[in-house]
Amino acid sequence: VPRLVEISDPADSRLADYVGLREASLRRLLETERGIFIAEGAKVIRRALAAGYPPRSLLLARRWLAELDEVLARYPDVPVYVVEESLAEQVTGFHVHRGALASLHRVERHTVADVLNGRRVVVLEDLVDHTNVGAVIRNAAGLGWDGLLVSAHCADPLYRRSIKVSMGAVFSLPWARLPGGEPGGLLRAAGFTVAALALRPDAVTLAGFAASLEPGQKVALLLGTEGAGLSPAWLAAADVVVQIPMHAGIDSLNVAAASASACYAVG
Ligand SMILES: C[S@@+](CC[C@H](N)C(=O)[O-])C[C@H]1O[C@@H](n2cnc3c(N)ncnc32)[C@H](O)[C@@H]1O
Repeated sequence: VPRLVEISDPADSRLADYVGLREASLRRLLETERGIFIAEGAKVIRRALAAGYPPRSLLLARRWLAELDEVLARYPDVPVYVVEESLAEQVTGFHVHRGALASLHRVERHTVADVLNGRRVVVLEDLVDHTNVGAVIRNAAGLGWDGLLVSAHCADPLYRRSIKVSMGAVFSLPWARLPGGEPGGLLRAAGFTVAALALRPDAVTLAGFAASLEPGQKVALLLGTEGAGLSPAWLAAADVVVQIPMHAGIDSLNVAAASASACYAVG
């Protein structure tokens, strides 16, 4: 039997995991401090649980209880906070139209070494936009890549917006966070050809790079931050710089669009 707890005071400290879900800097602090992340909507909650993230609590409007019945029954010790929709809105700062939220413990599902066992890996340096992180994850998973590594300061793949934009692929694609510094040595030691995606005079075209690959060759694609692109240190760490030729005076693609083009072309 699920542990239902009715709450009618928005200041109730048991709801503290769910405050200010739209405030990125507050959430970054709070989620890091508490070692949690938030999943939104019954489908995403189910996928997070199936991926092995242990739940800490749920926050539901009453009409969503039935929808999650069988899930709740599996976690009789996890409190389920039942609230009015207006109270949920007050606490979270937005209308929770998917009706259900869960706070889950951040556990490391994969290590960097696990991800390096793959053959095709995307590596992100310091992206700041959670929408881009989520879209890259969706692209990498959807185009059959094996894993993702994010730099020490890259935006959080488990932030609510990243999860949503990834369409839950963050729960299936193996990913891990790198220690600081450029990853060239680590990737090469694991047998990868390290390809930096950047617009540079010395770059080869994406089509040329894809055509040059031998069967079975392991490829790691480095993609850079939205404004400045890859740092000099990461660029210098690559075996090859690869560009997608641009036209019509447009200087670059959005990083997620670049990831989709490159993941597809490299195959
Ligand atoms: C918006 S771009 C940054 C552009 C930045 N001004 C630069 O010169 O790299 C973000 C990332 O997307 C990738 N990217 C975007 N367009 C690209 C292209 N045409 N060729 C190769 N990589 C590209 C690169 O990895 C880049 O670091």
